[in-house]
Amino acid sequence: MFDEGQLYSPVTTGEDGTVEVHLADNHPGLHDPAYRARRSHIAAAAINAPAGTVPVIDYTEDEHRIWRLCQEQLAPKHEKYAHSEFLAAKHRLRLPTDHVPQLDQVSARLRPLTGWGYRAAPGLVPLREFYADLGARTFNSTQYLRHGSEPLYTPEPDIIHEVIGHGNQLASARFARLTEAAGRASLRLETEDAMKFVADVFWFSMEFGVIKEHGEVKAYGAGILSSFGEMDEFGHMEHRGLDLADMGTLAYDITEYQPVLFCAESLDELDDVVGAFFDTVDDDLTECLRARAAHR
Ligand SMILES: [Fe+2]
Repeated sequence: MFDEGQLYSPVTTGEDGTVEVHLADNHPGLHDPAYRARRSHIAAAAINAPAGTVPVIDYTEDEHRIWRLCQEQLAPKHEKYAHSEFLAAKHRLRLPTDHVPQLDQVSARLRPLTGWGYRAAPGLVPLREFYADLGARTFNSTQYLRHGSEPLYTPEPDIIHEVIGHGNQLASARFARLTEAAGRASLRLETEDAMKFVADVFWFSMEFGVIKEHGEVKAYGAGILSSFGEMDEFGHMEHRGLDLADMGTLAYDITEYQPVLFCAESLDELDDVVGAFFDTVDDDLTECLRARAAHR
């Protein structure tokens, strides 16, 4: 789903304070100077915003067009492929369909539902920081949009992934609790191996998780539900039962559609297995689970 083996385009700040976003060689916006300047402008806004504030982005008509198109195209796919828990949350959150919302506006809608809010990020947030914020019900989000030439595709998480994927998910009290629990787990972990293990379980649950409902496999992962391609494909992939040792150690390629997905039998099973794991995991448990996976 995400290209180039990295989730986010690197952002650098020069000695003179100039912020630059470095797009990958095959990024659709690479040869569009206006898009590159726009990306750097939006990243700079997040970097230069006073602490505790989220910059207001003056979105262009083309950016609103991309948001509108994605909302229109994603809606019928959500109705068809998303688990009812996600759909109910989405209908409660009622994100705008005709314009890109400001992150503060999304937070204002989310807070009364589940207590979550958004913080603006210029690009990649270090793993520990990202998870610590999840533990405080704060979601770090980029504010840029994908390139207009390929509005249904993005090589990296843009505001459409962060808000239409994660925001709708976080409007569910159950998914919000699981996400917060993953964040709080990070505070108990000392080793980077343990942190990676938890992040991988998160990848195969809150990003790419699927779940049975009325005899069908439905998606609840934000990575699937913000991607046109993944929604068409996930039903044909290999679906394994929830197995923490497998989820925390299975190698995956972020540039491809996920060929192996972990399917919960029900929301209760997701809570009992993944939720209980996030609630109790420490370094020792991740080592035990790694050893178990290695001895299979
Ligand atoms: Fe994500």
